[in-house]
Amino acid sequence: MSKSTICLQVPKKQGEIAIALANKLGLVDKSLGIQRDESHLCIPLVRQPEENELETLKNHVPEMQLSTNVFSEKKAPAETLIQALQDKLPPNLLAHLPQALDVIGDIAIVEIPQELKPYETLIGEAILKTHKNLKTVLAKAGAISGTYRTREYAFIAGEHKTQTVHREFGCQYHVDVAKAYFSPRLSHEHERVASLVQAGETVVDLFAGVGPFSVLIGKRNPKVKVYAVDLNPDAVELLKVNVRVNRVENRVFPILADAREIAATQLKGLADRVIMNLPETAIDFVDAACQTLKPDGGVIHFYAFIRSPDSTENLKQRFSQAVEENGRRVEAFLYGKSIRETAPFESQIVLDAKIA
Ligand SMILES: C[S@@+](CC[C@H](N)C(=O)[O-])C[C@H]1O[C@@H](n2cnc3c(N)ncnc32)[C@H](O)[C@@H]1O
Repeated sequence: MSKSTICLQVPKKQGEIAIALANKLGLVDKSLGIQRDESHLCIPLVRQPEENELETLKNHVPEMQLSTNVFSEKKAPAETLIQALQDKLPPNLLAHLPQALDVIGDIAIVEIPQELKPYETLIGEAILKTHKNLKTVLAKAGAISGTYRTREYAFIAGEHKTQTVHREFGCQYHVDVAKAYFSPRLSHEHERVASLVQAGETVVDLFAGVGPFSVLIGKRNPKVKVYAVDLNPDAVELLKVNVRVNRVENRVFPILADAREIAATQLKGLADRVIMNLPETAIDFVDAACQTLKPDGGVIHFYAFIRSPDSTENLKQRFSQAVEENGRRVEAFLYGKSIRETAPFESQIVLDAKIA
């Protein structure tokens, strides 16, 4: 919306003082945006200044002029979820509203605490009202589970769908949250690993999902080969779409297979780098990772969950032992960090290990 109103036109170099003064005199129309061009500012006013006010202004900003202009109205500040629900929920429950949303494309995923279940439709609708970019709200209806690492969702508001397109670091990912794993919370990890890959490398992504490591690596490096393996047929179908839409067909190769089987056959001894993002059971696949590495070694990005009182040091020992049982050796840990809290007293750890 726009509005024509009286305004104060001042040279840019006197803008700061003019705004301060007009504000002090209660003249500025704060519902409208200040206009700027190369040399001048136009400050919208709520009324014509009185004689004494004009004099004060002229004393401090001699080059000021009054004119009339058309201004755009400022957007109202976004309403928060609590504000949107404060008249609709009992006050004692407002404090239990979800603090964080996982946003995947135009789908929001929330965890609704038991005491808020009767209000979940209201909450879903309020999320859509306060986040204009979202179309669907799903509530977690179970833990991530099974070989394919998926979870059940309950639909609570908006379009009834589980498919979307998520954008991350210049790539787009077709995702179906009900059929294949995807987490926006790992986006920085996808980027970190992709940034380490050098031209000419062969990378094996043993648990590739819909491809957030593989596709980004391919997108960043025209001169790489990435073998992206997953056992979930739905994940691999989406991965194939993602390879195509991100135009990395000539360097990212989706493979529907069991990681261990393919490591022992088609992918044996060819990798400079292996990504093992299956934190629940990756330790059981260290044999597969060691088999895919080149005979003179490479790097493994190993992910695992640790639960207190376990420690990253213990994890390093377990990993080193598993590597040695497979006839290799950890030359050095290049990096080791908790990348996110996954539950109370539990976090996801990454270890980058140089393997000889
Ligand atoms: C935690 S998800 C990670 C997906 C992806 N790397 C990401 O960051 O979004 C683990 C993936 O491993 C796949 N998976 C589980 N067991 C497997 C196996 N034996 N061989 C290949 N893939 C497997 C699952 O289907 C799932 O897509």
